[in-house]
Amino acid sequence: MDQIHSSQKTDSKAYPTFLVGDIPIYGDVILSPMTGYSDVPYRAICRAYGSAMHYTEFVPVEALGKQHDRYNKFWKRLDQQDGETPMVFQIFGNDPKLILNVAQRIESLEPDIIDINMGCSTRRVSGRGAGVGMMKSPEVIAETFNLLSTHLSVPVTGKIRLGWDENKNYIEIGRILEDNGAQLVAMHGRTKEQKYNGTADWDAIAELKQALTVPVIGNGDVVEPEDIDRMKAYTGCDAVMIGRGAIGNPWIFSRKSRAELTYADIFEAVRIHLREMLNYHGNPNGIFLFRKHFKKYVQNIGLFEQMMEDFMQAETAEQFEHALQICAEKVEMQDKIGPALIVRDEFEDCATPV
Ligand SMILES: Cc1cc2nc3c(=O)[nH]c(=O)nc-3n(C[C@H](O)[C@H](O)[C@H](O)COP(=O)(O)O)c2cc1C
Repeated sequence: MDQIHSSQKTDSKAYPTFLVGDIPIYGDVILSPMTGYSDVPYRAICRAYGSAMHYTEFVPVEALGKQHDRYNKFWKRLDQQDGETPMVFQIFGNDPKLILNVAQRIESLEPDIIDINMGCSTRRVSGRGAGVGMMKSPEVIAETFNLLSTHLSVPVTGKIRLGWDENKNYIEIGRILEDNGAQLVAMHGRTKEQKYNGTADWDAIAELKQALTVPVIGNGDVVEPEDIDRMKAYTGCDAVMIGRGAIGNPWIFSRKSRAELTYADIFEAVRIHLREMLNYHGNPNGIFLFRKHFKKYVQNIGLFEQMMEDFMQAETAEQFEHALQICAEKVEMQDKIGPALIVRDEFEDCATPV
């Protein structure tokens, strides 16, 4: 865990699991792009546990219209750590030429791949034809990917849903993406109207995989390590992308179940994550932003929940460490923490922060 800055370029595996254009991907489990969560520190933790590819949080192209400004919150989403590779910049918009213009600009920051989000269901995004709203305009998708694949030197990929509503058009869109140069398609197995309700449709992921020749990443409802291989076997997808099930649960990338964790495992990850948050976001911002991760690390773990107030009130690393110490003393005699459930429907009404 301490080598969290180690580069995957030094991965000793001889053969990549699959290629995105000419970019080799070593591994089959990937942290989902998640606004508000998949920032530099959390990507570093997940990478250490085995996440094979690193997406930024999505960025509206309109916000990247001006010159690179490292203090602007949207440009900051494109920060990457040394050795963070393969690095995918994810952007969204509804105007093919503007998307191209911005993609060309951000190419100079040297991502390995540029991805277009066509899955965000939030009204503010999809209502203006961006995110999953793009899936209602196949011709806009065709033009966008045609422009991008012609003018960019890095591979271009897309992340989609099943479609807008029950008239699911993921096969049509998948083929349009492939025909216009997309080198990978990731799909969340729900429609825009479903948001996060119901269960993800893995049959649809299998169907998409059958229909395309480029790699397909399956996404939706992977919460336990065994779900990873279950989704792969069921759908034939090249890799599995994990979102909500990975928050406060980076162990899933090493296929370790929370039921196997000890308190010491949780303490270690919490300390390292907080340290990374403070290094990257500074103090006290790092602490404030860490709180929502912390809640997920300790969800359903009785002892921590009893002490939640102490943790939530901590405003410095020292205060946080003090609360951890008290917790550690109380659990001295306990080893295993037992299973900790991941609440699957928590983000049902998730309005992805833009
Ligand atoms: C809080 C939150 C933020 C998200 N932000 C993004 C994003 O920026 N880009 C994106 O493509 N998907 C985003 N998603 C969708 C996830 O990447 C993923 O497709 C979805 O959560 C389904 O996967 P899961 O069942 O493993 O959570 C977000 C989801 C959540 C819960």
